[in-house]
Amino acid sequence: MDFIPLWVLVFVVISAFSPSIVVSKDYSDLILGLAKQPETVDWIKELRRKIHGYPELAYEEFETSKLIRGELDRMGISYRYPLAGTGIRAWIGTGGPPFVALRADMDALPIQEGVEWEHKSKVPGKMHACGHDAHVAMLLGATKILKFRENYLKGTVVLIFQPAEEAGVGAKRMIKDGALENVEAIFAVHINPNLPTSVIGSRSGPLLAGSGFFKAVITGKGGSPENPHLSIDATLAASMAVISLQNIVSREADPLDSQVVSVASFNGGNNLDIIPESVVLGGTFRAFSNQTIYQIRRRIEEVIVEQTKVYRCSSTVDFFEREQPILPPTVNDERMYEHMRKVAVDLVGSENYKVVAPLMGAEDFSFYSEHVPAAFFFIGIRNETLGSIHSAHSPYFMIDEDALPIGSAIHATIAERYLNEHQ
Ligand SMILES: *[C@@H]1O[C@H](CO)[C@@H](O)[C@H](O)[C@H]1NC(C)=O
Ligand SMILES: *[C@@H]1O[C@H](CO)[C@@H](O)[C@H](O)[C@H]1NC(C)=O
Ligand SMILES: [Zn+2]
Ligand SMILES: [Zn+2]
Repeated sequence: MDFIPLWVLVFVVISAFSPSIVVSKDYSDLILGLAKQPETVDWIKELRRKIHGYPELAYEEFETSKLIRGELDRMGISYRYPLAGTGIRAWIGTGGPPFVALRADMDALPIQEGVEWEHKSKVPGKMHACGHDAHVAMLLGATKILKFRENYLKGTVVLIFQPAEEAGVGAKRMIKDGALENVEAIFAVHINPNLPTSVIGSRSGPLLAGSGFFKAVITGKGGSPENPHLSIDATLAASMAVISLQNIVSREADPLDSQVVSVASFNGGNNLDIIPESVVLGGTFRAFSNQTIYQIRRRIEEVIVEQTKVYRCSSTVDFFEREQPILPPTVNDERMYEHMRKVAVDLVGSENYKVVAPLMGAEDFSFYSEHVPAAFFFIGIRNETLGSIHSAHSPYFMIDEDALPIGSAIHATIAERYLNEHQ
């Protein structure tokens, strides 16, 4: 208790008698005060470091999930487990409507950490290189604040800890297992190394691209290259297909509707004296509307099949839709975005809020945003002094942990204020 500054205690006492204090600047200061208590800050950072030290890949987040449940148990918070294998749905508040959800992802990446520091990954070849360790820590920080505010909550806050964002589309399985039951709005944050520490950024409408992958097998007839007329050249057919794929975006897309088709892999034959039987090529495609992403999918298939037919080859195109369905774009609902923006501006000031450009990266949070109004936002972790300047998925990725308590405060405030404003 001696860590709590006097003015925080004063606000706590005041708010106990007048819950209506909640829209004011004083309320924002109260929540920030709670998040910035040294013991809370240390606890949030320690959680993040523990998770960072033992990264687990998609659907293997057993220890991470156990750590989260341990903290929930200690705080006396009810939850349902498991959803989607290792996922958790916890809740705080009245247990009745309205229900608002906050989501964190738990999985790491198959990357060997290149940063030398005390809490470096202890698991060879695995690393939290996308900050999901920080997302879990921030959400647990918010949980602590919301638990403290439980008597004032005018509804229920649902806390979603999700597996397999990087691979395996955990969001989709979480929804199937009931993560969004009764939920009418959802919010999530992602750390961002392009924004300075604790700067918040987002935009209304499309924020992250929809994304899919394709792999095509082009089959001709193998043979000896000195007698080309006796073979059917899959290399030539595949090459023409690669060129034709370039025209989908350049000639068929609205130039104001950003899209990408990239061939990233092209393999066939390994002998300089044999025309190969087949060539395998593949890549990725991105777009900012659901309609466009499926339109591109259809055109990639048509272009490859028809173009290679011109050269007498046959082709099959696989979009991996069973293992890794096409991700819809992440589109921020205008009202949810505005709610999130107001909260962020109240907490960090308008000088620390940035409207960001859409990004070609993708997130499976988009599956939640297909079901309920949603807003996704970024919190900056860039600090030149610390060296937290590397992009996500880099082996040198690191974060400025000073952003964590701010992220917790914003989460908690988004949820509590949402409930107040949606009675
Ligand atoms: C996106 O398109 C797919 C395929 O047409 C459809 O199954 C899905 O429901 C659509 N999602 C939205 C949000 O429109
Ligand atoms: C960067 O980190 C250093 C060391 O923790 C800190 O003193 C400084 O205030 C940070 N800079 C920003 C912009 O947050
Ligand atoms: Zn990632
Ligand atoms: Zn991520």
